[in-house]
Amino acid sequence: MKVEGSVGLVTGGASGLGAGVALSLLEHGARVAILDQNLDGTDALVDQFGDSVSRHQCDVTDPVQVEDAVWGAAHLHRRLDLLVSCAGISFGKRVISRDGDPHPLDHFKKHVAINLVGLFDVLRHAVVAMAKNEPSDEGERGLIVNLASIAAFEGQIGQASYGASKAGVVGLTSPLARDLALHGVRVLTICPGTMDTPMLDTLDQETIDSIVSGNVFPKRLGRPEDLGNLIIHCMENTFLNGETIRLDAGLRLGPG
Ligand SMILES: NC(=O)c1ccc[n+]([C@@H]2O[C@H](COP(=O)([O-])OP(=O)(O)OC[C@H]3O[C@@H](n4cnc5c(N)ncnc54)[C@H](O)[C@@H]3O)[C@@H](O)[C@H]2O)c1
Repeated sequence: MKVEGSVGLVTGGASGLGAGVALSLLEHGARVAILDQNLDGTDALVDQFGDSVSRHQCDVTDPVQVEDAVWGAAHLHRRLDLLVSCAGISFGKRVISRDGDPHPLDHFKKHVAINLVGLFDVLRHAVVAMAKNEPSDEGERGLIVNLASIAAFEGQIGQASYGASKAGVVGLTSPLARDLALHGVRVLTICPGTMDTPMLDTLDQETIDSIVSGNVFPKRLGRPEDLGNLIIHCMENTFLNGETIRLDAGLRLGPG
């Protein structure tokens, strides 16, 4: 897929990794629709890139808002080529609390509702929009990139809700790729390691240093542009499909 002139929908695009992806796409000549429940902090992108950016306020757990936002973006930009799903939450909680209480069920349900069900709701509309595109010479009509996490494989203490929701995203990869091949839509999942975004705000520096020291190389936090660069490659390399890619400097999480 050619990046220049394409239209990308980025959920969670107002912050952290999603904002980094939006910037990379815009710098490469794509147009970007940002879908987020909180659009604060997106003014700078609009100032810099004008009409190439649109903003769609939407809670991915609300199916009416999702349908309006996805089709609003597709109609505004007259097409949709790429979906990058970065909207997500991560809050830690042990299965048995220090006081001996069971894990609150709402905590588990909320992670699954946003990180997995909300992601699927956005993509089920986005792929219908992509299926309307004229195919490329190779038959390609679109690309879906879902953000999971290495916690899908090595979830740490306190990550039962988060790890399960992200494992669900990894599990979507193969059936989606096979299902959507008929329509010329590729599907990839990216599992970041520890990235420098507001999601880490709840961790103290000592914890971050300890996690980063587990990287094989380089021993630094990942940057939003590391993900942005990978998304550009995923768009250009049409032979990548149905794959889950770790973007983690070789980090393998311990129990935590
Ligand atoms: N930062 C990391 O180290 C890391 C590591 C692995 C995976 N990830 C994943 O990457 C993705 C992006 O994380 P980030 O670090 O950029 O976090 P972030 O908190 O900076 O950004 C998340 C964005 O999602 C939006 N969002 C949350 N709930 C939403 C909802 N219900 N509807 C619409 N938007 C909603 C937030 O408003 C925010 O803009 C997440 O899926 C996260 O799980 C992050």
